[in-house]
Amino acid sequence: MQMKQDGVKITAVTCYDAAFARIIEQSSVDFVLVGDSLGNVVLGFDSTIPVTMDHMVHHSAAVSRSLSRPFLVADMPFMSYQCSKSQALENAARLIRDGRAEAVKLEGGQEIVGAVKAITEAGIPVVGHLGLTPQKIHAIGGFKVQGRSEEAADQLITDALALEKAGVCALVLELVPQGLAKKLSQMLKIPTIGIGAGVHADGQVLVLHDLLGLDSGFKPKFLKTYCDMNEIVHNALEKYVEEVRSEAFPATEHSFD
Ligand code: KIV
Repeated sequence: MQMKQDGVKITAVTCYDAAFARIIEQSSVDFVLVGDSLGNVVLGFDSTIPVTMDHMVHHSAAVSRSLSRPFLVADMPFMSYQCSKSQALENAARLIRDGRAEAVKLEGGQEIVGAVKAITEAGIPVVGHLGLTPQKIHAIGGFKVQGRSEEAADQLITDALALEKAGVCALVLELVPQGLAKKLSQMLKIPTIGIGAGVHADGQVLVLHDLLGLDSGFKPKFLKTYCDMNEIVHNALEKYVEEVRSEAFPATEHSFD
């Protein structure tokens, strides 16, 4: 909230393990999301739908062990908050207590206001998520930009205002036209964090493995890769194989008498 008021852009990345969390801890990134993109990025599923509370708690706890400075947010996975307020509360509490997150993120608009209120009233900060909501991928019908029609944009604005009123502390906007993201960011007091939502959001979030170029086959329009980790890792592995086969590794300095 302070960063939005000061006009300083918020930077966020996803993270799923202690090794990357250690590097992020040393960076200037403001907020770390243990996203349920864990399913696609790390666990090898083809969507976020198979991700469970156990997965999220396990990975959030791993990240938390290497992280103290950035704000740590963990996703509530598919169907972990829709069944009842008590289910939402119990699962949010697990992510905070066992996963050691500092806030939870829920996908959806007016339909999840009850869960958002229950969780925030229990003293747990909630981050909202509108636009493309991957947990509803079968209903949406594909990874496409949301809120393009006037009606869809109006719905998104209504949802955003309802979430703000229910107490969310920030709002992720995924794959929405930049004009709509600008309007929402001006309209809301809480910060918006965009992914595929243009430059006017109050901050940006990217999936860590995507921005590092770990998957050379994944190149959506909204993504900018900041290095080619796929090539770096590939070359390192090939060099290792070559040196083991030629007995260049291990050398004397890597060996014990
Ligand atoms: O799960 C995730 O990584 C996310 C980001 C794309 C915002 O929700």
